[in-house]
Amino acid sequence: MSNKFGIYIHIPFCTTICPFCNFNVYSSNSADYDGLVGLLLSDLKSKHVLFLNKDLESIHFGGGTPSLLPTKLIEKILYEIGTLFSVKSDCEVTIEINPYDKEVGEPSTLHDLGINRLSIGLQSFSDKKLKVLGRDSTKESNLAFVSKISKSSIENFSFDFIFGVDKESLEDWEKELSYLKDLDVKHVSTYCLTIEESTPFWKMRDRGYIDEVKDDVFLGMTNLTRIFLEGIGVQQYEISNFSKPSYESKHNMLYWNSESYLGLGPGAHSSLVDLEKGEYSRWSNPKSIKHYRDSLGKSFVSNVLEIKEYIRDSFMMGLRLKKGVNLERLRSIKDFKINEVYLKELECKKLICYDSRSLCLTNSGFNVSNKLIFELIESLEFMSD
Ligand SMILES: C[S@@+](CC[C@H](N)C(=O)[O-])C[C@H]1O[C@@H](n2cnc3c(N)ncnc32)[C@H](O)[C@@H]1O
Ligand code: SF4
Repeated sequence: MSNKFGIYIHIPFCTTICPFCNFNVYSSNSADYDGLVGLLLSDLKSKHVLFLNKDLESIHFGGGTPSLLPTKLIEKILYEIGTLFSVKSDCEVTIEINPYDKEVGEPSTLHDLGINRLSIGLQSFSDKKLKVLGRDSTKESNLAFVSKISKSSIENFSFDFIFGVDKESLEDWEKELSYLKDLDVKHVSTYCLTIEESTPFWKMRDRGYIDEVKDDVFLGMTNLTRIFLEGIGVQQYEISNFSKPSYESKHNMLYWNSESYLGLGPGAHSSLVDLEKGEYSRWSNPKSIKHYRDSLGKSFVSNVLEIKEYIRDSFMMGLRLKKGVNLERLRSIKDFKINEVYLKELECKKLICYDSRSLCLTNSGFNVSNKLIFELIESLEFMSD
């Protein structure tokens, strides 16, 4: 087990709340950025001691729209992190941005602050789809934004796309993917639209204003995405994530490899792993800014978990990776068995590949990952039970 950790900073404000989004976000009209950063820094100062024996691998500004933070506040947060931890030159420092010039500072300014990776929420190269998604961009403005970023001093960037929106066909999605051929793609995240309860899309779907993609179209789109991206040298490394070699997201790899992370901001999650001491705990900050403010300075409740839970969580996260889970390593932490007949059955159906050292889902396994991962976790039998 390595001794890495990452810091996630949640900036919960957006100028417009997209009708599909269920993240912990609020309108930027009510934003008090100085106040929020005061809270984040107080949170950082009180919890940093828990992570002092670990190496800082990544800092991730997520949201919401963290690029709305005034530059001096981004600088202040990075400065405070730098006084508490040693930030090595290869630490990945990412900020999520919307592809709207008015919401993002100059890439050179961000670069000067120490940001070395941009995660850009393009969502689509179709005007029709961008409109349905309620985005303030067009195919042309997205392409122009990518062109500007490609010429900037930040060479490591990622694009987010959503597929399976309304009446989108396989051909529509193929056309969007084809734009990537001419772009300098390092990393892409492709998410199938989830229609989440309590979003406007939920009501629109119920009233018949938008359609939900059918299972066969979804499968066609996921297969097409993988084949197309691999064809341009961008390999799948996680269910929804693809990259050129060595451009995998270091931050997300911490989550998928069940390593430690400190989440700052309303609703942010944290995980603290110390396997040498047999310790594993997780906690979440209150979601509302008011409750988050009230929680600071009080002793916080971390959910101390058994090591069995660490193994289960490692399956939950690790099976999302193409390389799967390292059974040898996990068994050395706490020994367990998985029913051999069940494993053989999944192997015969070509849903998994496994040997004594590792277990991973195949492409067909990825298509039914939710059910399969749940079943595999249920089938774990711990030796001392
Ligand atoms: C934290 S969000 C936001 C980043 C940034 N604010 C933006 O919108 O560009 C990260 C990504 O999650 C994806 N996402 C959000 N809601 C989704 C949904 N309901 N279904 C599928 N993907 C979703 C979008 O691709 C989005 O870019
Ligand atoms: S998708 Fe991004 S911009 Fe839209 S509401 Fe969610 S976090 Fe904000």
